[in-house]
Amino acid sequence: MTIINEEAISGRVREEITKIKDLFAVDTFSLKRITDHFVHQLEDGLTRHDAEIPMNITWVPSFPTGRETGRYLAIDMGGTNLRICSVELTSERGGYSITQDKYILPARLKRGTGDELWELVADKLLDFLRKHDLLPPAKGEEEEGKLPLAFTFSYPVTQNHIRHGVLQRWTKGFDIRGVEGEDVVAQLDAVLQRRHIPVRIVALVNDTVGTLIASAYKNPDIRVGSIFGTGCNAAYMERCSRIPKIASSGSQAQFDEDSLIAINCEYGAFDNNRRVLPRTTFDEDIDASSARPGQQTYEKMVAAMYLGELLRLILLHLHESIGLFPDADVSRLREGGTMDAVSLSKMETDGSEAVRMEEAKRILQDAYGIDATDEELRMCCILAEVVCARAARLYACGIAALCRKQGVEECAVDVDGSAFEKYSQFRKRAIAALAEILDWPENEERVKLVSAEDGSGVGAALIAAIILNQ
Ligand code: BGC
Repeated sequence: MTIINEEAISGRVREEITKIKDLFAVDTFSLKRITDHFVHQLEDGLTRHDAEIPMNITWVPSFPTGRETGRYLAIDMGGTNLRICSVELTSERGGYSITQDKYILPARLKRGTGDELWELVADKLLDFLRKHDLLPPAKGEEEEGKLPLAFTFSYPVTQNHIRHGVLQRWTKGFDIRGVEGEDVVAQLDAVLQRRHIPVRIVALVNDTVGTLIASAYKNPDIRVGSIFGTGCNAAYMERCSRIPKIASSGSQAQFDEDSLIAINCEYGAFDNNRRVLPRTTFDEDIDASSARPGQQTYEKMVAAMYLGELLRLILLHLHESIGLFPDADVSRLREGGTMDAVSLSKMETDGSEAVRMEEAKRILQDAYGIDATDEELRMCCILAEVVCARAARLYACGIAALCRKQGVEECAVDVDGSAFEKYSQFRKRAIAALAEILDWPENEERVKLVSAEDGSGVGAALIAAIILNQ
């Protein structure tokens, strides 16, 4: 990435940039300290039901063998989109074909009611089945003729078996009434049954677990499935003997001590007790104005959903403190949620300094009607770097903690999520931070960050296959 020429920025403004850089810096000592605490909290989550990091037991009992076959439907409800897929797992090892459609979840729905949500999901599923000619011939209400469907629901749920999940709390800015504390499978299933849509939900899946399983289908070195997108989280396989709370999990399932089970860490909730993360006043503002203050502390510092908001708040602060954009009307800049994460990645593109400044100029003009000077544009680009670099470094702490927890020094971690693909600098920064935390010898990359295609759909289909063939 081209370095922005800080010399071209006047002394006073540079001083302010240095202050913000200091606030957002996470040095090696802090990275290690955060990771140590993280490992401890992961352990605690496996022990207690009310721990800070939930470490949800998902009842996904094994990695795929690579020989799974069959056709499965998958619905993936993430933070931004609803994706519906039909996945055919073919007999060739690791092979599949996928048909998928994506719908944007309307913003108003995020603060609507559960009924509206499930009706919308049912509408889109029916559209998909009709469009791709997948509706089976009517066979009454018999389970047999119904299409098996895995439901990827990327929010924390308590499960006592795989076709069940009580929503612990909404995350990613959602605040849909009537769903928290309820079983989301039962809610969706009731609507599907009432509307005679011929599908049966065979598994409820978190996106991290889908990613873990989909990547392990092709790459046996995968030890962690992680998401860096609207939200941030990870999953891994744990041995039942290392999950003390499993005995009191309310499950009827039989498992032996040596068997594996996928854990959805839900580590976006890390440090909700505010012990180690270096929170700034900007982070506090984001938390205070969020739908669930006090929750998802780590996620709010790392996930793409909050990065644009951080930059917006910093720019507003600089407008008020040192008169950045002195003659501009900043009323739009005062509106929450108006800077998206993609804008930051554009200000960080691999192009020349001039290209980066041009991107910043267009974003400020289009989104805020602000005509910025070259100095202000340089400043915006540098601040975008500062925010994104901290996110990547903190993201590395979660991954390092999971590697340490599993006692692995070398492995592959799958990273899925819109943001991972878009941020050209993210992988490099996260790897550099992992090297610092885990003391890798120079030029050795012991943990590989890889990204799986179609992770959510294929992972969900594989889990359906594993469950149905148990
Ligand atoms: C959710 C997780 C999810 C993550 C990434 C978080 O907000 O709580 O369940 O895995 O976002 O989508």
